[in-house]
Amino acid sequence: MALRNILKDEDPGLSKKSRTITGFDKRLFTLLDDMRETLINADGLGLAAPQVGVLRRVALIADTTIEAETLDEQIIELINPEIMFEDGEQCGSEGCLSIPGVYGLVSRPNTVKIKSYDRHGKEFELETSALTARAIFHEIDHLNGVLFTDIMERLLTDEEIEEMKTERGKE
Ligand code: CO
Repeated sequence: MALRNILKDEDPGLSKKSRTITGFDKRLFTLLDDMRETLINADGLGLAAPQVGVLRRVALIADTTIEAETLDEQIIELINPEIMFEDGEQCGSEGCLSIPGVYGLVSRPNTVKIKSYDRHGKEFELETSALTARAIFHEIDHLNGVLFTDIMERLLTDEEIEEMKTERGKE
């Protein structure tokens, strides 16, 4: 496994649409393993392949509803994920490893059901809500070349960012 460089938002690759994975092979495994290490190292909630310069429909999310000791055990690998159903609305703060230090207020559906493939090409479904649903929408947006700053209602103020960090620290 190796750490990959996370591209920043001025990189043109981040606004491109990623292509479908067709081969579930060693090359994909290496990409997934490297992305996993990179996500854990950055302590993020999600990472999409275009963020490491690979324009393929691959993303990782950390499902914080999974009771586990480590982030590693919460990571779900998504290959060619597709939204099947969405419902409700949530509005909350969102950030991105490609846009460090910036947070915005983003409205998302509260619940999502997706269809995806695992690394071995086996199809599975996942239905989730709240923060994990937000992470899924955020990562699928990356696969379509969309960043949260493209769709946010507004940026969070410095005070709001401080407040958010204090609240997270209490958890
Ligand atoms: Co992001």
